[in-house]
Amino acid sequence: MRKDTMLLAAFTQASVTQTGVGAWMHPGSDPHVLDADYYINLGREVERGGFDLIFFDDRLAAPAAYGGSVREAVQRGSRVIKLDLLTILTLVAASTSRIGLGATYSTTYYNPYHVARAFATLDHISKGRAVWNIVTSLNAEEAANFGVGEVLEHDQRYDRADEFLEIVTGLWESWEKDAIQLDRETGVFADPDKVHQLNYQGKYLSSQGPLTVPRPPQGWPVLLQAGQSGRGRQFAGRWADLIFAASTELDGAKKSYAAQHEVAAEAGRTAPPARILPCAQVVVGPTEQVAREKKAYLDSLSNPVEGLMQLAELADVDLSTFPQDEPFPDDLLDRVTGSKAIMQNLLAGTEKTFGRKPTPADLGAFFAGRTGGHQFVGDPGQVADEMAEWFHGYACDGFAIAQNDSPGSFQDFGRYVVPELRRRGLVPEVDAAPRTVRDRLGLGPRVSRNADQT
Ligand SMILES: Cc1cc2nc3c(=O)[nH]c(=O)nc-3n(C[C@H](O)[C@H](O)[C@H](O)COP(=O)(O)O)c2cc1C
Repeated sequence: MRKDTMLLAAFTQASVTQTGVGAWMHPGSDPHVLDADYYINLGREVERGGFDLIFFDDRLAAPAAYGGSVREAVQRGSRVIKLDLLTILTLVAASTSRIGLGATYSTTYYNPYHVARAFATLDHISKGRAVWNIVTSLNAEEAANFGVGEVLEHDQRYDRADEFLEIVTGLWESWEKDAIQLDRETGVFADPDKVHQLNYQGKYLSSQGPLTVPRPPQGWPVLLQAGQSGRGRQFAGRWADLIFAASTELDGAKKSYAAQHEVAAEAGRTAPPARILPCAQVVVGPTEQVAREKKAYLDSLSNPVEGLMQLAELADVDLSTFPQDEPFPDDLLDRVTGSKAIMQNLLAGTEKTFGRKPTPADLGAFFAGRTGGHQFVGDPGQVADEMAEWFHGYACDGFAIAQNDSPGSFQDFGRYVVPELRRRGLVPEVDAAPRTVRDRLGLGPRVSRNADQT
């Protein structure tokens, strides 16, 4: 039996789109996603529900990979709205006191100085609760929005991201912990010997420093990553405190968990192991029958074309060009310039479900409404038991719970499942002590320079 406890992330979007793209049509969904109150309320629900952090995904373009146009996505409300996340997390920071505040920022389209500054600021104003989901970004529409003509190929994006992280973490450490003196008697604000330039010069990126934000309360804000490829896992093994995974089945999740730990050990990681959270869709009700009816209703709101639209975005391949009822060609994965690993995983899941080589229609139906994770459907005890099996089987260290309807899914999870997980000793009672998220989640200090300064 494991002695540690599960971590629970509330996985959401600053959008009308949730796990199922048709979620905005659900009567339990609050559609006012352009209002501050929506996020203030969502943050409070997540904190009250017993989650450890709220996490917002991101994409820097409306989906146009499917059929080469945004028309279909606009009409369906499918990931066409994506608000800037640090503005939103500022609202959530002010209306909560405990949960981690996670935002996705791209290493390919943002600048390291800007990212270091933005997350250091969030970390200060939230008293040590900033979490950065590091993505290298996936598709041509994002490049086009940022005026980038030539996109680096997949593994090179991670080489560049390594340099990006050298800069960001270096800038976070450019002020030593006790640099600020604020001495009115002597007129010394900060000790100049304790504020350092970075002078980083890499192959792709450079930065001088120091940062104009003093050392963040967490030292390094918590680093989150979701690489699924060999190179992506290596990057996560080096940098991440938390890893999101995309496994849809228990056996696959166990293998992926073991593989991620091996990669990190091979990379000589000295920090505590990253904690791995597979994405999960939970549909729970007071009885199994109610949960199944809720699930059937949710399924009725999404359709296979929307599934394929989301996948085209992830894979960066126009999936509308294949005959919809014929199996995909054998070289499909060779044409994927976005995430091969996620496509491979989903094609395997589709083949298992339909018992044949998948067609576009099969894949769309399989993916629509699930965001790539496992579906836990049942009464509170059933969902908690199945989650316990994953946790005790070393398939995960917790879950990233994706929303179906918002905020209904997180309310249901907090109301029905968290008490059952607590009863099983898998989730601790709320600890209201003022602590940073890094400390609260037992992630351990991270530092690369000024090692005595953690
Ligand atoms: C649960 C989960 C959430 C993710 N969120 C985002 C996101 O918000 N934005 C993004 O561009 N990519 C996101 N990704 C994609 C990953 O960053 C990564 O590119 C993908 O898993 C493929 O791995 P690879 O980059 O190693 O090929 C997510 C992946 C998973 C599994």
